[in-house]
Amino acid sequence: MKTPRNYFKPLAIGAPAPLREIPPRVERMIHFVPPHLEKVRAKVPQIAATVDVILGNLEDAIPADAKTLARRGFIEMANATDFAAMGVGLWTRINCLNSPWLMDDVSEIVEGVGNRLDVMMVPKVEGPWDIHFMDQYLAQLEARHGVTKPIQLHAILETAEGVNNIEAICAASPRMHGISLGPADLAASRGMKTTRVGGGHPYYRVIEDPKADGSPRASVQQDLWHYTMAKMVDATAAYGLKAFYGPFGDIADLDACEQQFRNAFLMGCAGAWTLHPDQIAVAKRVFSPDPGEVAFAKKILEAMPDGSGVAMIDGKMQDDATWKQAKVLVDCARQIAGKDPEFAEVYGL
Ligand code: GLV
Ligand code: MG
Repeated sequence: MKTPRNYFKPLAIGAPAPLREIPPRVERMIHFVPPHLEKVRAKVPQIAATVDVILGNLEDAIPADAKTLARRGFIEMANATDFAAMGVGLWTRINCLNSPWLMDDVSEIVEGVGNRLDVMMVPKVEGPWDIHFMDQYLAQLEARHGVTKPIQLHAILETAEGVNNIEAICAASPRMHGISLGPADLAASRGMKTTRVGGGHPYYRVIEDPKADGSPRASVQQDLWHYTMAKMVDATAAYGLKAFYGPFGDIADLDACEQQFRNAFLMGCAGAWTLHPDQIAVAKRVFSPDPGEVAFAKKILEAMPDGSGVAMIDGKMQDDATWKQAKVLVDCARQIAGKDPEFAEVYGL
C-alpha cells in the first residue's frame, strides 16, 4: 500500500500535483456525443449550452473504422469551444485498456487538449491495476505536454471483476473522480439474461402469496440494478468520489428513464449519462432536488442552526441525523442554484 505522503506526490517530474478534493461541480448529466460525425460536432456548442458535462465518446458505439476520426474529431471539438467559460465540463470516454486504440487515444488527447480536459472515462475497469497504469501514463504525458491541472479518471463499473474490486478501484489514485454504472457490459459480464441497456425487465419481479379464493395475485417489477447501485454508492461515498447511473438505452421510453434516474438520485448518485437530447431535460429534472423537499430541508436547518438537539417540524421528529440529511439536500440545491439561475429562483437560494 502506498503511504499517505506518497499518495499525493506527482508520479512524473513536471506533472501537476494530484488533487486532494474533487472540484465541486454540478454534473447532473454527462451528455455523450459521437465526435467522428461532423454534423454532430457542428451542433456541440448548442448542445453544450443545455448540459453540465459534454463527453466525446471514442469507445463502444463508435465503429472500428471511425476510431481515429472520432479521436481527431474530439480534439477538434474540444479546441473549437471554450467549455470551461460556459461552465460545462469536458470529458472523453477512451477505448478500453486492451484495445489497439488506447495508447493513441490517451497520448493524442493529452497532447492536443490536455489543459482543457476535465475527466477521462475509462471503460471496463477490472481492478486498481488499470487505474495505476492510467495514473502513471497520464503523469508522463502531463509532464511532457505542460498540463497544469491533473486530468481526473472516471471508471465504468461494467465487469463482474470490477464490481468485486470496486473499493480498491476507488482507492487506487487521487485522480479518481467517480464511477458510473455500465449496465449493458455488466449484464453480459455477469451472464444476465437480458438484451437491454439499463432499466428493468418484465420478468424480474416479486409475486404475492397465493390467495385462498384463487383470485389473481399482485406482482410487480423489481429494480434489477438495486444491489449494484447500492454497492457503487457506498464505495464511492466512502472514498469521497461521485456515483453516476450510466446509460438508459430505450430512448423512446422517457418514463422508465426518469424512474431509473430517480432511483439512482435517491440512492445517492450525482447524475447519469444522457445519450439523446430528449434525456437531458429528464436528467436535469431528476438530479436537481425537488423544490418542496428543499424548502422542508431549509426549515430543518433553520430550526436547528447548530445541527444539534431535537425539533418537531410538521409533525416529524428532527435530530442531528435528519439535520445532516437536510444539509446534503440544501448543499446540493445551493450548488445547482449557483450554476443555474432558473433553480436559484425556484429554491429561493
Ligand atoms: C456502458 O458502457 C454500458 O456498458 O452500459
Ligand atoms: Mg460499456
